Amino acid sequence: MTDTPAVVSFTDTHPDRETFLGEALAGLCAMPKTLPSKYFYDEPGCQLFRRICELPEYYVTRAETALLGDIAAQAAEMIGTSASIIEYGIGSSEKAGILLAALDRPAAFVGVDIAGGALSAVAETMARDFPDLAVHAVCADFTQPFQLPALAGPGRRVVFFPGSSLGNFDHEQAVAFLANAARVAGPNGGMLIGIDLKKDVAILNAAYNDAQDVTAAFNLNLLRHLNRECGAAFDLDAFRHHAFYNDDLGRIEMHLVSLREQTVYLGGQAIVFAEGETIHTENSYKYSIPEFQDLARRAGWEPLRAWSDAENLFSLHYLSVAAE
Ligand code: AVJ
Repeated sequence: MTDTPAVVSFTDTHPDRETFLGEALAGLCAMPKTLPSKYFYDEPGCQLFRRICELPEYYVTRAETALLGDIAAQAAEMIGTSASIIEYGIGSSEKAGILLAALDRPAAFVGVDIAGGALSAVAETMARDFPDLAVHAVCADFTQPFQLPALAGPGRRVVFFPGSSLGNFDHEQAVAFLANAARVAGPNGGMLIGIDLKKDVAILNAAYNDAQDVTAAFNLNLLRHLNRECGAAFDLDAFRHHAFYNDDLGRIEMHLVSLREQTVYLGGQAIVFAEGETIHTENSYKYSIPEFQDLARRAGWEPLRAWSDAENLFSLHYLSVAAE
C-alpha cells in the first residue's frame, strides 16, 4: 500500500440556512430586487458553472488558463521560493496546478470556497499532485471575514484569485476586498489575480447568452437552490434569464425576469412581482488594465506587472503589498 498524502486541514464555516434566508429576504424585499451571486454555487450550480467554462462563447476560462501557462514562470520568479498560496474561489484544480508546478518548492496551499463538495475534491487532488505541499481547505464565504489556518512556510504569502471573480463586486466592494486580501498576504505579500478585460460588446454579450442556454440554467438554478434550502416555491418556468452588457457601468448584468404578475412566499413573507420585474442576480465588472491597477492602488497594493493575451481578452496581474 502506498501512502496517500492527506489534506492537512478542512475548516467548515459555510453560511447556514438562516444566513442564506436572511440575505435572500433582504435582497428580494429591496427595490430593485436582488439576490447574492455567491448562492449560485450549490452542487448543481457548480456543475453548471463547470459547463459554462467549456462553452465556445465563454472565452474567460480558456483565455486565462492559456495566459497563466504562458506567464507562470515569470510569476513564479516574482513570487520566489517556499511561498504559501491562498486561493479564493477554487472551482477546479487546473489553474492552481499550473501555478504550483511553476513555483520553487511551494510550502503551503490554502483553498477557500463557499462550495464544500467541490473544494474537498480539489484539495484532495492538490494533495495528491503535490505531495510535499501542506494543503488546507477552508469552506467559507470569502466576502466575509474568516479564519485562515496557521501557515508555517518561510516564503511569501500570495493570494491567488483567478477567474475574474472580482468582477462580482462593485468598485467600492472590490477595493474593500482587495484591502482585506492585502492584510491576509501581510507585509511583503503578493497577489496574482485574473481580471476580465473590457472588449467588443458582442463578445461580452455572447459569453453570457450562450446558444445552449447553460448560462440561463445556471441563473435559474439560484431559484431552485432557494426553493430547496429556504423552502421557497419559485416556479422556474415563470422566470426567464436576461443578461446584457451595461456600457455606462462597465459590467455584465444578469437578471431573472418575472414572466407574469406573481406572488412567491419566502420565510413567511409575500414577495410580489409585477410582470417584467426582475431579480438582479449578478454583476460581472470588466476593466481596462489601468482601471484595475487604480483599484489595486486604492486598496494598498503596488501593481508590479500585468500580462494579457494576444487578443486582449483577459489579464493577469501580479501585485505586491505596498510599503507603509
Ligand atoms: C465566476 C464570477 C467570474 O462573472 O463570468 C459566468 C460567473 N456568470 N457566467 C463571471 C458567471 C455567468 C463568472 N465569475
